[in-house]
Amino acid sequence: MAFSCAECGHRTIKWYGRCPNCGAWDSLSESVPESERGGGDAKAPWIGEPVRSLDQIDLATVARRSSGLPEFDRVFGGGLIPGGVVLFGGEPGVGKSTLLLQVAQSLAAHDGRVLYVSGEESEAQVKLRAGRLGIDGTGLFLLAEQSFPRIEAAVEEVDPRALIVDSIQTIRAADPEGGSGSLRQLRAASAALVRLAKSRSLVTFLVGHITKGGAFAGPKTIEHLVDVAVYLEGGGTDDVRVLRSVKNRFGPTNEAALFRMTTGGLVEVDDPSSFFLETDRDETRPGSIVVPILEGSRSILIELQALVSPTGGYGVPQRRCTGVDVNRVLLLLAVIEKRLAVHVGGADVYLSVAGGLDVRERAADLGIVTAIVSSLRNRGVGGRATVVGEVGLSGEVRPVRRVGDRIDEAAKMGYERILVPAAGTVPKRDRIEVVPVASIDEAIVALELG
Ligand code: TYD
Ligand code: MG
Repeated sequence: MAFSCAECGHRTIKWYGRCPNCGAWDSLSESVPESERGGGDAKAPWIGEPVRSLDQIDLATVARRSSGLPEFDRVFGGGLIPGGVVLFGGEPGVGKSTLLLQVAQSLAAHDGRVLYVSGEESEAQVKLRAGRLGIDGTGLFLLAEQSFPRIEAAVEEVDPRALIVDSIQTIRAADPEGGSGSLRQLRAASAALVRLAKSRSLVTFLVGHITKGGAFAGPKTIEHLVDVAVYLEGGGTDDVRVLRSVKNRFGPTNEAALFRMTTGGLVEVDDPSSFFLETDRDETRPGSIVVPILEGSRSILIELQALVSPTGGYGVPQRRCTGVDVNRVLLLLAVIEKRLAVHVGGADVYLSVAGGLDVRERAADLGIVTAIVSSLRNRGVGGRATVVGEVGLSGEVRPVRRVGDRIDEAAKMGYERILVPAAGTVPKRDRIEVVPVASIDEAIVALELG
């Protein structure tokens, strides 16, 4: 005999009023181990297929379908796969329903019927949003439903090419044990939808809410069930959104696409460097430097801005950062103090990324150092120069991934000079002067900020 918790799935051999693992009350119930249910799962996908050797398997049948939105397709490795199940995660309010409604419309126009199941909003609410997005709705079918059997019946009836379920947390599987939203429900509903997707070759999106602060408790536990997992990030005060793939059974992961939230829905940003850089950026402005970062397979130029000013009176020096990791900045400030023998301990330091992107790459280190020193010295970098490199604790500039792509992006955007790590390979280019630097001291000299 065994008991399992409906909230966290924890199994015990004894019944408790409160789950010893997650602390939920009255959540334990007797469970029958899968091995005793007999016969395994008759509805499991792929059953009935003959065993084949690898060379007999025909790849031509796996044709990708375009959503009609090129940036969206790119995140999925060039298009959507029939029968492929996508977990579409994101914090509430980030724009999941908005983007998927746009995708639904585009798929309906390009590819065939789409069924959009909303377990959270009424049909009228979805219709209102569609109106706001200027969606006419031909080929797009709506269903406000939370029960899996009724969703399955609707799929039979409509016979769509794609299915969108918004959100997976609201769906109840056929065999309801535990309340909707519990972990067991979530797994059962996801497994049922995966089976449905495979048996009917449906392109399927399962929306999954993640809580603020990035704890994925729910959706994370079904990542192994799905073929592709993507997360929509961003929000807050800025209108930039990044769609990122973290798992893809059909293509590369860590692919990313950028969108902007507008009053008419999400708009693809197809030339991010131009989007993030002002067209007439003042090169002589102190504290500003352009850095090529990587987002998925592409390189993007972003602008880092620093403001360093003396802390008034006996106040505590401020360190405020938006778009960069404050702990990384603190470390780089220590390296600057030690290596460049400049005093930043008594100054307020503000750092931000123009345009609202979050930059987590170490390759931006040299940019952060440059921006801080440039503001401190009140001298602009000028000369259409850009920098890239990770900075080590002793001030050495360390190699970064795909430096060639970054140089090419800088050249494409009209930059004439780029500082790159001397360690590692230093690609040569005709269009742009590539300056290898081994330490932050060398970088500061090369940029005439010393
Ligand atoms: P929504 O797609 O409902 O988020 P989610 O499904 O991830 O919870 O989007 C919510 C926000 O998006 C809401 O604050 C309003 C904003 N929004 C726009 O700015 N423009 C639009 O065209 C739409 C439909 C929504
Ligand atoms: Mg929503």
